[in-house]
Amino acid sequence: MKIIIVKDSKAMGSEAARLIARRMLQNPSLVLGLATGSTPIGTYQHLIRYCEEGLISFKKVKSFNLDEYVELDAKSPLSYVSFMQEQLFSKVDMDEKNWNIPDGNAQDLEKEALDYEEKIKKAGGIDLQLLGIGGNGHIGFNEPGTDFASVTHSTDLTEETIEDNARFFNSKEEVPTKAISMGMRSIMNAKEVLLLASGSSKAKAIKGAVQGPITTDVPASILQLHPNVTFIVDEEAARELRR
Ligand code: PGA
Repeated sequence: MKIIIVKDSKAMGSEAARLIARRMLQNPSLVLGLATGSTPIGTYQHLIRYCEEGLISFKKVKSFNLDEYVELDAKSPLSYVSFMQEQLFSKVDMDEKNWNIPDGNAQDLEKEALDYEEKIKKAGGIDLQLLGIGGNGHIGFNEPGTDFASVTHSTDLTEETIEDNARFFNSKEEVPTKAISMGMRSIMNAKEVLLLASGSSKAKAIKGAVQGPITTDVPASILQLHPNVTFIVDEEAARELRR
């Protein structure tokens, strides 16, 4: 596990974008696992700029997002489809047929989850998975207690996650209570993992993920067993780490 501690969230975004750009240069047909939330926005902004400057291209890149809310209209500005279009896809040279996000409005969520996992396999697996982390240590919507053997599945959000995400909605009551998410094993199957965290609200989760026991109580702690994982965290998120 490699831990890079940077000054602030701005530095986190540029450091992460450089790592992703390097991988895209090494392999133009990279299969990227992507994340939503506040954390990766700065990284996406750098990648957009690199693309505009002709340094990198998403033409042959395939992507798979970690998760999507269940029963939220895909057209809602708060759906993860809208988020990704707004924050990345519409601003880079990516082909619409090459990005994938689980369909939270599928009639049969179980089938959608199985099909999503199959699609990842068919693409050859994820080369580089980008992750944020929840204040409770979740990755994707794998909340504390999620089985480490889980693959893509539908799941209930915890009260803490609903409260964390209420800032994007008009009220807490509007936050969907269910999501469809890649599972813990889906994430561990990625060849490389890059986890980003900034701010003091992530300090406890980072401490647990990096130096705590490996336990489903802190889902990200399983990453201690991943052979190729990098954490890029800012000083505030790193403040509980033992040096
Ligand atoms: P955030 O969410 O980037 O909005 O903090 C991260 C997460 O919950 O995984």
